[in-house]
Amino acid sequence: MKIAGLKCRICGKEFPAEPVYTCDNCFGPLEVLYNWDFIAENVSREKIENGPRSIWRYADFLPVENVEPIDLGAGFTRFIKAENLGEELGLKNLYLIDDSTNPTYSFKDRVVSVAVTKAVEFGMKAVGCASTGNLAGSLAAHAAKAKLPAYIFVPEGIERNKIVQALVHGAKIIEVEGTYDDANRLATEIAEENPDWGFVNINLRPYYAEGSKTLAYETVEHLGWATPDQVIVPMASGALLCAIHRGFEDLERVDLIEENDVVFNGAQPYGLPISKAVKYGKGIEPVRRLETIVHSLAIGNPADGIFAKEIIEKSSGFAEDPVDEESIEAVKLLAKTEGIFTELAGGVTIAALKRLVEDGRIDSSDVVVAYLTGNGLKTTEGIVDHLPGTVKIKPRLEEFEKVIA
Ligand SMILES: Cc1ncc(COP(=O)(O)O)c(C=O)c1O
Ligand SMILES: [Zn+2]
Repeated sequence: MKIAGLKCRICGKEFPAEPVYTCDNCFGPLEVLYNWDFIAENVSREKIENGPRSIWRYADFLPVENVEPIDLGAGFTRFIKAENLGEELGLKNLYLIDDSTNPTYSFKDRVVSVAVTKAVEFGMKAVGCASTGNLAGSLAAHAAKAKLPAYIFVPEGIERNKIVQALVHGAKIIEVEGTYDDANRLATEIAEENPDWGFVNINLRPYYAEGSKTLAYETVEHLGWATPDQVIVPMASGALLCAIHRGFEDLERVDLIEENDVVFNGAQPYGLPISKAVKYGKGIEPVRRLETIVHSLAIGNPADGIFAKEIIEKSSGFAEDPVDEESIEAVKLLAKTEGIFTELAGGVTIAALKRLVEDGRIDSSDVVVAYLTGNGLKTTEGIVDHLPGTVKIKPRLEEFEKVIA
């Protein structure tokens, strides 16, 4: 058996692999505990390379047993050597993973595919989540595939396209007057009342978070079974950064890679708790007012904040906190150099990368991987006013010639 149980990330107390997520001893969050000997015996580079072109090529590392995955094709997205952007930023070995091409256009398909599969395995009657936007669309789509009703809690004011995307799959969208943190608190209360509903980022969170480890596996596989020198990860709750870190550790544990000393850098919009804590040397202090237009990363009370901070600091990385204008410019820079239209979270990531290079924290020859986690068509509201307008003319050649002149 691959799964050994769950374990508290604070005090280490162990639990059976059930839909539980907090420790009854210290209230710490739980994570999945694996039988590493079993996994090491079963996994190999060849097996992975011959697997499906999705996250499920790494099934040996995912917390699912004896059930067919709910699979829309998440993962194994484009791995790009970004020569043009690298030249602009002064990096010779810059790589991007472009998760804007996932089935619902964000990295959330990786976590949701695992969590909804787990909900089916547990025989749950419905699924739900609290979302800053991308999770909503992904959960709605996977719930449709799994034939489960979905209850999705979002803060008011998130992008229209994200709501439309979730609604089209038939999910019930509850817009909560307040921030993401308010929506999350309410969803948590509802999850407590309804133990046979699988709230993917609440009571299924230990399993859900594991899906993002696949970004580390893909990075290593695409680099010819080598690790990068540095990574840049966008942060909201910090779960993604922690999962990528666990992914590299897993590969080392089963000897699929020899060394693992990846430097972790986080990217979060200005004023949010994780980047603030790392950059200005403080503890994680929750923020109530969220001023950024980067709604997908706007979490004021980040569940994985302390763990993300610890990983960044232990690996000698850093966190950057670009302001919205920088992130918008970075979206445009990426689009003009690499032909990729990323959402504002990707802008935060590229803007943070730019700062890290300018401050000498990343060397020009370092092998760097930046994770682009969402699609620009979802956040057009934030960018449209920063683009030149169209040119309107009558359908006549001389009119066009006037424009060119
Ligand atoms: C596009 C995008 N990137 C990154 C993140 C960061 O996620 P996490 O909460 O795991 O830090 C999110 C979270 O919603 C997101 O939507
Ligand atoms: Zn504990």
